[in-house]
Amino acid sequence: MKIIDKIHKLICKIVSIFFASRTVRHVLSLNRTEKKEFLRKIIEENKKQNFHENTNLLQHTKSKFKLVQSYNQLPCTIETRKKRADLFERNGFRDKSILLMGDDDHVSVELAARNFKYVTVLDCDMRLLEELKVLTQDAKYQVTFFHVDLYDGLPKFLQHIFDVVCFDPPQNYEDLNVFLKCALKATKYENSNFYMMVNCNSLGNKNIEKIFEVLKKSGFINSKRMDFFNCYPLNKGQSLLLKVMSYFTHSFKERKEGIHCRYYYTDCLEFKADILQKSNHDIFEEHQVISPVVSHINLPEIPLAVYKQYGMQNRKNP
Ligand SMILES: C[S@@+](CC[C@H](N)C(=O)[O-])C[C@H]1O[C@@H](n2cnc3c(N)ncnc32)[C@H](O)[C@@H]1O
Repeated sequence: MKIIDKIHKLICKIVSIFFASRTVRHVLSLNRTEKKEFLRKIIEENKKQNFHENTNLLQHTKSKFKLVQSYNQLPCTIETRKKRADLFERNGFRDKSILLMGDDDHVSVELAARNFKYVTVLDCDMRLLEELKVLTQDAKYQVTFFHVDLYDGLPKFLQHIFDVVCFDPPQNYEDLNVFLKCALKATKYENSNFYMMVNCNSLGNKNIEKIFEVLKKSGFINSKRMDFFNCYPLNKGQSLLLKVMSYFTHSFKERKEGIHCRYYYTDCLEFKADILQKSNHDIFEEHQVISPVVSHINLPEIPLAVYKQYGMQNRKNP
């Protein structure tokens, strides 16, 4: 290892002590090349976006609820949630059972407006669920909501009943695995699909390979990868941080042309069950139990056994 890489590793280790967020720690743990590639690509994508934006302004998801940092919430743009709904429409999922594992992106609102028949949302954020319930109350087909913390695993009654599962996990390997494990449990044994929104560069090549390996064992193959499919508006602090990073990733000449970083991006990975799925409960190499950085559900407030089953009675064939 070069001396500069060693210094870089040491500095990142020290800096990571000051961050509780597993995602920040994860990015800091990437090696110098990986980190540079990840940041450079995000900044380059922002440059492209800025170029188009004069004529085509991106709309942000308008929401009254306050984002909860410990839930890793970062809602995507309205264009992105429409793109996800377009994708589901193109794939003929209108009458398939769909599970959205976490929905700060409001995809359920878009699907409800387009008359998707069997949409279920689970989230650990009760206020978000209440908001989504109001926003979808006039839908022809009622959306079903459950208050669930995935760190406690997927409740039994939600296991192996969905044709399609979509999730946008926290962007670090440990938390992503929690979501992934639950997604595998949620899918039906036959002909199911799932969509994982993740920035492959931020995750690192080795981790992506490990995930693909695990999924292959479980009977899922990666059928499509749509780079920079999802776009998320950043707050001022995050934008500034990204701009500062451009001093390490871009030349003086490139920076002089102007760098405005207003968005984060993730890729959309599509997985299809290639054969009858194996029992996928124990295929993860890590058996460690990981818990959220901050406890997600306050037990005295909402006992985990009590789920809000809105509109379940409207579903004929979940
Ligand atoms: C994980 S966040 C989005 C992550 C984001 N793309 C990022 O860059 O980190 C997506 C949704 O998952 C929900 N969520 C987070 N942790 C959860 C958990 N343990 N159980 C259920 N939902 C969770 C959040 O409330 C949010 O609505």
